[in-house]
Amino acid sequence: MSFRIQPTPIARPNRCQLFGPGSRPALFEKMAASAADVINLDLEDSVAPTDKDAARANIITAVNSLDWGKKTVSVRINGLDTPFWYRDVVDLLEQCGDRLDQIMIPKVGCAADVYAVDALVTAIERAKGRAKPITFEVIIESAAGIAHVEEIASASPRLVAMSLGAADFAASMGMQTTGIGGTQENYYLLRDGAKYWSDPWHWAQAAIVAACRTHGVLPVDGPFGDFSDDDGYRAQARRSATLGMVGKWAIHPKQIALANEVFTPSDAAVAEAREILKAMDDAKSRGEGATVYKGRLVDIASIKQAEVIVKQSEMIAGA
Ligand code: COA
Ligand code: MG
Repeated sequence: MSFRIQPTPIARPNRCQLFGPGSRPALFEKMAASAADVINLDLEDSVAPTDKDAARANIITAVNSLDWGKKTVSVRINGLDTPFWYRDVVDLLEQCGDRLDQIMIPKVGCAADVYAVDALVTAIERAKGRAKPITFEVIIESAAGIAHVEEIASASPRLVAMSLGAADFAASMGMQTTGIGGTQENYYLLRDGAKYWSDPWHWAQAAIVAACRTHGVLPVDGPFGDFSDDDGYRAQARRSATLGMVGKWAIHPKQIALANEVFTPSDAAVAEAREILKAMDDAKSRGEGATVYKGRLVDIASIKQAEVIVKQSEMIAGA
């Protein structure tokens, strides 16, 4: 371990972030009653420019009046290149009570984007005497965002989560696809005439996970557009979980159970992790730093790997 200890991210379940347009208030009660850990009420790209004011008012009323239970309530504001975002921040911070937990900043391209929102939020919190500081989450969904991902991850103590936004990311990168996440038809290796599909999002996800883990931020996978394809969603989510991400967005209620299933460590995985910890405990009492578990090497690093799974499971169970 480096002399600089890796910070621990916020201990909250973040398996599924359910989105709903601020211009469809009929969905809000269903969102509040859902099994998602995080609710993302949207003011950005699912809301038409002419609906922004009404969507803002809808969201403020819903945040203040609905029973959101233990969910994290987050509102996605408009991007800093629009005329809408300052009004989003001012109205949300001035008019939402303490049930507003978080603001999601889309299309972040550099640390200064986060700094700008932080400055405005901090001024309003002080002016209004808000006791509970608002946390931030950001979306990495541009070439600039991924190029500056580490400075963004360390841009503000308010920042607790970071998502990959596949659609805007693909557009900004000039990728030849209209798919939102998942395997892409033309991204394959060829061997002996057979195609082997690869994952075009993999490197960006890995960069996000590394930046997040360095700075104590939760890495989250973004949307999977084809909500008729459960297996495709599951496969994408499993890849994300394997890479270290803690959750994934749902853009339709169908996807909530899939995310919760994949990002809750399975009983079998937890049982095996506990067995590894026990095997290492026994090894330690014999004065050994390495031993054999089910025919394979386990050593002191295995303790840390197993603890990731056990701690995640305990945190979710205790939430
Ligand atoms: N949250 C909660 N409930 C939702 C929902 C959501 N995001 N989207 C749909 N539902 C409800 C519907 O109201 C319907 O409920 P009912 O059975 O009580 O009538 C049920 O789930 C089935 O909905 P369905 O008819 O399949 O979907 P739709 O055509 O109404 O809406 C979308 C489909 C994709 C337009 C809608 O899910 C949506 O707006 N998703 C979020 C988009 C978004 O926020 N994007 C920004 C982030 S990428
Ligand atoms: Mg986007």
